[in-house]
Amino acid sequence: MNVPEPVLDLARSARRVAVLTGAGMSAESGVPTFRDAQTGLWENFDATALATPAAWADDPATVWAWYQWRVALVRRVQPNAGHRALTDWARAAHVQIVTQNVDDLHERAGSHEVTHLHGSLFAPRCSRCERAVDLPDPPEDPVARLDPPSCPACGGDGRPGVVWFGEMLPQDPWETATESLREADLLLVVGTSGVVYPAAGLPSLARSHGVPVVQIDPRETDLSDQVDHAWRTTAAVGLPALVDALRIGTDTPR
Ligand code: OAD
Repeated sequence: MNVPEPVLDLARSARRVAVLTGAGMSAESGVPTFRDAQTGLWENFDATALATPAAWADDPATVWAWYQWRVALVRRVQPNAGHRALTDWARAAHVQIVTQNVDDLHERAGSHEVTHLHGSLFAPRCSRCERAVDLPDPPEDPVARLDPPSCPACGGDGRPGVVWFGEMLPQDPWETATESLREADLLLVVGTSGVVYPAAGLPSLARSHGVPVVQIDPRETDLSDQVDHAWRTTAAVGLPALVDALRIGTDTPR
């Protein structure tokens, strides 16, 4: 895979790299993206309809079962070569990952600077008192409905620790994201359709601070006209090719 020269030049000179990732980052690990058709048991459900406060209020057991299906799926898959390439790059530059994903694949690939804008599958909390709730093991086989865990402190229903449509993003991750984008020498946008705000506004925020933006996505997206270089490749092909081209020695101290 040849890395476009302008992308390689920007990467070579970048000391502080910000990476905004979306579902496409995990696609080659086997995690369906949001806009892919749901698979299996959930093929008749629209993910954007389930990830809402209304769906939770209406039927917590269906929503909880769906998220536990996703927990089981993420536990079965592995980080891909794209996740690992970002970990390698962090040996030679400061790499701050800002992800919309609720999986833990960046962390399992060894990335330490990971900010979750939309929360995490692995951090359920009480829907009443907001305290953290232990994540029960998902059932062996997918089920259509599953009672959510009870909060040990107040008895409320434990809910997925993710941001649902219409909910506010957690403040600290947002501040970390905007600060790291403002200070970056390069922003890579990997695998996001750029349809969900405020995350989708981050590339134009970076550019307004003079930060060059490179998109890695096999398709044209809403963000493609807001980037300096749209590199039509995938996360697990493009990122390893880019990091290989940077010739980061295995003994490169950070
Ligand atoms: P989408 O499913 O909207 O977009 C996935 C993007 O990844 C698309 O642009 C694909 O072209 C691209 N893509 C697919 N395979 C890829 C690959 N192998 N390598 C690189 N790119 C690939 O997912 P998101 O943009 O992440 O919000 O969705 C944003 C938010 O919408 C999610 O965080 C979620 C969802 O509703 C909440 O849960 C609040």
